[in-house]
Amino acid sequence: MFNISGKRLTKVYTVDGKEITGYDIFGNGDSATPIEEKEKFRTKLSDWKFNLVSKTVDKNYNSVAEAAVDFDDSNWSQVKVPHDWSISLGYNLSNVAGYDEGYLDGGCGWYRTIFKGDLKNNTYLYFDGISLNSEVYVNGQLLNTHYGWFDPFYIDVTELVVDGDNTIAVLVKHPQPSIRWAAGSGLIREVEVVSIPKPANIIKNIVITYPNLEKEKNSIVNTIVSFTADQPVIVNMSIRDNEGNKLSGQSFSCQEGKNEITLPVAVPNLWDIYQGNLYKLETTVKMNGEIYKVPFETFGYRYMKWDANTGFYLNGNRVKIKGFCNHHENNGCLGNAQSDAMDIRKLEIMKESGCNAIRTSHNAASRNLINLCNKMGFLVMEEFFDCWTKSKKANDLGSRFSEEYPRVIKNVVTRDINAPSVFMWSVGNEIQRVSMYSAEEGTAWATKLRDEVRKYDTTRPVAMGDDTPTDKTSRAMMNVFDLIGVNYGNDGEYSGVRGAYPNKPIFGSETTSTKTIRGVYSTDSDYTLGSCLDDCCEGWGDNAGVALKRHMESFYNCGMFVWTAFDYAGESKQDKIKTSYYGALADSALLKKDGFYLYQSIWSDKPMIHIVPSEWENENNAKKVIVYSNCFKVDLFLNGKSLGTKVTKDSNYAFNYGAIDFEPGNLKAIGYDKDNHIIAQDNVYTSEGKVSDLKLSMERIKSDMDELVFVECVLTDSKGIHVPNTTDIVSFSCVGGEILGTDSGCRDDFELPSNSERKAFDGKCIAIIKPESDDIEVTAVCNNITVIKKESDQNTDPSQSKEEVFDLVTEQNNSTLNITGGRDINLILQNGSNLLLM
Ligand code: GAL
Repeated sequence: MFNISGKRLTKVYTVDGKEITGYDIFGNGDSATPIEEKEKFRTKLSDWKFNLVSKTVDKNYNSVAEAAVDFDDSNWSQVKVPHDWSISLGYNLSNVAGYDEGYLDGGCGWYRTIFKGDLKNNTYLYFDGISLNSEVYVNGQLLNTHYGWFDPFYIDVTELVVDGDNTIAVLVKHPQPSIRWAAGSGLIREVEVVSIPKPANIIKNIVITYPNLEKEKNSIVNTIVSFTADQPVIVNMSIRDNEGNKLSGQSFSCQEGKNEITLPVAVPNLWDIYQGNLYKLETTVKMNGEIYKVPFETFGYRYMKWDANTGFYLNGNRVKIKGFCNHHENNGCLGNAQSDAMDIRKLEIMKESGCNAIRTSHNAASRNLINLCNKMGFLVMEEFFDCWTKSKKANDLGSRFSEEYPRVIKNVVTRDINAPSVFMWSVGNEIQRVSMYSAEEGTAWATKLRDEVRKYDTTRPVAMGDDTPTDKTSRAMMNVFDLIGVNYGNDGEYSGVRGAYPNKPIFGSETTSTKTIRGVYSTDSDYTLGSCLDDCCEGWGDNAGVALKRHMESFYNCGMFVWTAFDYAGESKQDKIKTSYYGALADSALLKKDGFYLYQSIWSDKPMIHIVPSEWENENNAKKVIVYSNCFKVDLFLNGKSLGTKVTKDSNYAFNYGAIDFEPGNLKAIGYDKDNHIIAQDNVYTSEGKVSDLKLSMERIKSDMDELVFVECVLTDSKGIHVPNTTDIVSFSCVGGEILGTDSGCRDDFELPSNSERKAFDGKCIAIIKPESDDIEVTAVCNNITVIKKESDQNTDPSQSKEEVFDLVTEQNNSTLNITGGRDINLILQNGSNLLLM
């Protein structure tokens, strides 16, 4: 009856869209070259030797022997880059940065690798971002000293490379305390050798704009390509869609210096929320009868408007920013080593919640995260700094800010200039928190930074996140920006902001900061203990429902960025606690919290309903019961008895049922549309209280960069019902793959993240596996229970746990089919259907 088909759960993403297998460069048969060849410009440097010098930074350390070509690194460890040495060391409760940096050590380490020299071409080394400070040596020579900020940078090594092997040595230092969260240590993002034929290297700084898109979108869009050329040369530029169809093209002679051409494109598909319509600009240079390809640019067509009175518009449609701030580089048990598969998983969870935007607090994103947002259709507020010249932490970059800020802004803006997802730049966060600058000084810095961004980009607004926007000192400074980003504004502060900046669009650059711990529902607990009843937030923040209401219902407010979607390492604000609890959607293991459903009930149109607490175990759980739903009307049943229908939500955006007399059994919520049709339902059951089985589900995500299988293990009773509050240890093993890490979201679990066994938290834990075969087999052992599962054995969607399958037990009599739906299952019945949900 219910055929939940046995499909393999692999999601394949290619950052640059569909592969194109052949095309004609000049449109006249000059050449037909697969697009992959273009990517030959870039060779990833993934295999490195690594040696940790020390877990702290010794200011007097000055060894450079490790940079020498003939240095013997044979006893160093072999590592894959992106790499984070902090997480691999595990936790250190005596770490000097303490909970701020998640009890993870920094220190000092060397990396070495070799690459083949290519004397014909111009050669660059590309670093997408290092944590934190680095010195790069090529063939023994120091070429670059780079300070923090995670900005991407190129080093021109053309003059230095030799035929054959060339040695790169990178010294990375992460002094502590240096930052307000766990930033990882080392080559945490991709490193590449970029080799560009000299004629192709003549063309640089390609920027694509379409200033009249709003008017032209239904006819011919004049697409302006500006670029610089080191010398006059014959250039061809063409625009192709994702299928490789050529839409426009032109050959012309360019001049030395700045150039601009216009390519007409008929009715392009606009880039939009969840619609990553991307186009490619291909450029070739003709010299001495040869054609040379220039690295292509990916871009998208979209236009924006910001209005002080009515908010933000994308492609003419009013769009509320439904965003999350994130310490985006934090990947739970994998530390801060960049992973596309992880980013995809996080973006998918955010998308499912209805989120349409992210803020890359408080530093630039990886190139791949921006590419994923381009492709998946997320808006990005890309941020550069958490502090300016006045430090927030002893070893942060405040003291170097004056010298380094132009470099950071240039590196980030020029990398992402053509990214349609990036819709505003943010030059800072809470700079005035302790009124550190005078009005004059603050204004001068704000102006400098804004203008530095505008040197490279005049198409996007510049903003920052400020938590004191009506203070005297802030006011002049904030007026410099195109938009007013308010961190944690309450109603009074927002009306002050409206009064202070009547002509500036306003948005919540940071909001909420609720403290939630998966599976915790005790309102009367210690203040520091997070609760999932949306009744526990920071003093400066708001309960999620309150913040949502404030931003979603305000007419002028452009929207909000909630602090944060996921728990991240560091900033726990409590001793001997390693992770934050600000994750509104999920914990560090990406296991969903109840808050996920609150956002979904407000931000998503898909009919849904969710009961909180999602564990029905005892009187504690009965103290307050709320239902999150976007249905017109909801009904809640305890063991079949209705507890009443509701159409009105409380001030936290919840259907509030208050305290309920506890009875073990089943709580069922049913959601109806306006015509009284059942459109969603949810169930929670009292478990037997004893773990008798394990439920394993797996999801494989394959990206251009990496491939991971996420294994979720739920500890269940004999009927498959999740047994909450259990902390039994689960031991994972895998045939056909390598376990990279395990996690349960537990904030004071200090076991090594790469361990293959993990103490469950609230009856759940996960393993992250790097697959080496198409069909891995995972074994989970807990007490005397062993469950073995192959990926191909999965015959349910991963969002449906076994509990849900268990719930889909059907009873049929002559005329009626009764279906007991499980968690997360939204059964949408057609009008007139003869199915009844009971
Ligand atoms: C904000 C700050 C964030 C984070 C947050 C925690 O004031 O901008 O970085 O610290 O508080 O609530």
